[in-house]
Amino acid sequence: MAEDDREEFIKIRGLHQRFGSNHVLRGVDVEVFRGETLVILGGSGGGKSVLIKHMCGLMHPWKGTVVVEGEDITNLTERKLNTVRRKVSMMFQGGALFDSFTVAENIAFPLKEAGVRDPAEIDRRVSEALEIVRMPGQKEMMPADLSGGMRKRVALARAVVEMPACILYDEPHAGLDPVTADSIDHLIKDLQVDHNITNVVITHELRSVFRIADRVVFMKEGTIYWVGTPDELAASKDPTLANFVQGRSENHEGWEKIAPCIDTGR
Ligand SMILES: Nc1ncnc2c1ncn2[C@@H]1O[C@H](COP(=O)(O)OP(=O)(O)OP(=O)(O)O)[C@@H](O)[C@H]1O
Ligand SMILES: [Mg+2]
Repeated sequence: MAEDDREEFIKIRGLHQRFGSNHVLRGVDVEVFRGETLVILGGSGGGKSVLIKHMCGLMHPWKGTVVVEGEDITNLTERKLNTVRRKVSMMFQGGALFDSFTVAENIAFPLKEAGVRDPAEIDRRVSEALEIVRMPGQKEMMPADLSGGMRKRVALARAVVEMPACILYDEPHAGLDPVTADSIDHLIKDLQVDHNITNVVITHELRSVFRIADRVVFMKEGTIYWVGTPDELAASKDPTLANFVQGRSENHEGWEKIAPCIDTGR
């Protein structure tokens, strides 16, 4: 699709957020195009989770605007925000499953919140969501009995169950082995390709960036530092991006100073 034809599904302008004296977001301008997978990268504590919470109205901006499908959601009431959250759903960092609920009850939770009451419909939609995340027939399992990868799948099933237009994933790969992380990437990409879902993914997994991203944004110090494609990221000579791609800390020169001391046993 030509760049100019792309439809802005989410548009954020001049977003500032602060917690007391901690000024976390410092003027974020970013858009998410309909149908794309956008990956958000950046150092820990840089405001990635805070940013995506604004995309579904879980946080209200201190300053700035958030527009979803042409609707300014900045000052919506909680009731109207519930409609937005059905459209833009979140897979939380760590999964956030209810440990005393079965898998089926966890997945059914947003449906019940949305007022779906018919047990047959709930059962059918939970089954479909479990099919999508390739965990058919696991309804009665308890979260404590699931592996890390299965927990992530259940969290994803819960995000998918209302068939949202967009899913926000907060570190879906965290704590997973490379093979399981790869299977999560396949699910994310299948949702985009087969179900036309727009994806916004926070990750620290560089391999995943190259598997799933159409575009990448890099956050630094509460702003969007860089936007580009995965190939442009790989080719970038920018020291901050190159350090990130190569897994070096920004102050790695410090290591070079320390290393000789270690070598000589001093
Ligand atoms: N509800 C909150 N109340 C107070 N401070 C908060 C709240 N949420 C986030 N913060 C602060 O905002 C900053 C950014 O947090 P955020 O969780 O967005 O970082 P992140 O980029 O997602 O980091 P990580 O990669 O470690 O998940 C941190 O300093 C954090 O302590
Ligand atoms: Mg985070």
